[in-house]
Amino acid sequence: MSGVGIWGVGKGLPKELVLNDDFIARGLDTSDEWIRSRTGIQSRYIAGPDEATSDLAYMAACEAMAAAGVVPAEIDLIVVGTTSPDYLGFPSVACILQQRLGIRVVGAFDVAAACSGFNVAMTTATQYFVSGMATCALVVGADCLSKYVDWTDRSICVLFGDGAGAAILKPVQSGYGVLYSRLYADGSHADILNIQGGGSRQPFTKAVLDNKSHFIHMQGRAVFKVAVTAVLDALQTALTAIGRTPEDLALFIPHQANLRIVEYVREKMGLTEAQCFTNLQQYGNTSAASIPIALCEAYAQGRICDGDLIALVGFGAGFTWGVNLIRWGGYS
Ligand SMILES: CC(C)(COP(=O)(O)OP(=O)(O)OC[C@H]1O[C@@H](n2cnc3c(N)ncnc32)[C@H](O)[C@@H]1OP(=O)(O)O)[C@@H](O)C(=O)NCCC(=O)NCCS
Repeated sequence: MSGVGIWGVGKGLPKELVLNDDFIARGLDTSDEWIRSRTGIQSRYIAGPDEATSDLAYMAACEAMAAAGVVPAEIDLIVVGTTSPDYLGFPSVACILQQRLGIRVVGAFDVAAACSGFNVAMTTATQYFVSGMATCALVVGADCLSKYVDWTDRSICVLFGDGAGAAILKPVQSGYGVLYSRLYADGSHADILNIQGGGSRQPFTKAVLDNKSHFIHMQGRAVFKVAVTAVLDALQTALTAIGRTPEDLALFIPHQANLRIVEYVREKMGLTEAQCFTNLQQYGNTSAASIPIALCEAYAQGRICDGDLIALVGFGAGFTWGVNLIRWGGYS
C-alpha cells in the first residue's frame, strides 16, 4: 500500500436551526451583535429530544459511504471522535453506528478528545492502515454539546451547535492522502474547559444538578490564548516537516470554534481568505464534528480539487490539538 486518503465525506445535522435572535426570544440577556462580533456565529443547529449523537453520525456516515461508493461489508474499522456519546460510558457511538449500518464484526471504538476528536480519529485510523490492520475505515466526528450546556448561561450556550461529519478512508496512490499527522495534549490546561460533574469524580447527585457542575465550564479568554498559540505552532511545524510553506496550502480547515481565532491564525500564517475555510457562521462550534462538516462543505463547493494540499487543524478541551496534512485525490 502506498497512502491512505479520503474517498468520500458526509455530514449530518439536527432538524432545528436556532438564530442568535432566538436566544433573546427565549429570555436570554444577549444580542445578535454581541454574538456575531465576539464569535462570528449567526446560527447553529440544535438536537431535539429525539436526536442523539449517533443519529447525526449515522446520517453523516451514510452520506460519506455513498460518496465513496462503499458498502457496509467493505468497512473493517470504525473510529468515532466524540465527547457527547448517546450513553454515559457505554456502549460507544461507534458500536451503535456499526449496528445501525449493518456492519459485520470489526474494530469499532470512540476516541475522546473534545473538539480535536476528528483529528485524533483520523490519525488513529491512519495508523491502522500503516500497520496493516485496516483496509477501509469509517471515521466520524460527532457531538451534541447542546445537551451539556446550561441554556441560561449566556457565556456558553450561544457558542455551541450539534452535528456530525464522516469520512471514508481507503488506500490511495503514493504521494497522496495523509502526508503528516501529529497529535498534541497539555493536561496542565485541563481546568480552562471542562465538565466536572456526572463522571466518576463527582457522580450524579442532587448537589451536582443544583450546582450545575454537569454543564460545560470555560475560561473563554484563557482558551483563546492557548488555542491560537497551539494552532499556529502545530501548523507551522507540520508544513516544515513535509518541506512546505503556507503558500503551498490550497485550503486550511481549522476547528470552527470562533471566527476571531481563525482570523488571528490565518493572518499570522500569512494565508489569504481564499486559503481558509469557515462555516462556523451557520453551525457554531460543533466540537468534533466541525472539521469534517467543513471538509464536506468545502468539497461540495468545489474548494478542494485533486492534488490540493489541505490542512485540518483541531483544538479543544484537555487541552488537545492536532494536525492532518492531506494531499487530496490519488484514487486510480
Ligand atoms: C467566549 C468568548 C467569545 C467571550 O468573549 P470575551 O471578550 O472574552 O468576553 P468575556 O467572557 O470577557 O465577557 C465580556 C462581557 O460580555 C458578557 N457576555 C458573555 N456572554 C455574553 C452574551 N452571550 N451576550 C452578551 N454578553 C455576554 C459577559 O458577561 C461580560 O460582561 P461584563 O463585562 O459585564 O462582566 C471569547 O473568550 C472566546 O472566543 N474564547 C474562546 C472560546 C472557544 O473558542 N472555545 C472553544 C474551544 S474548543
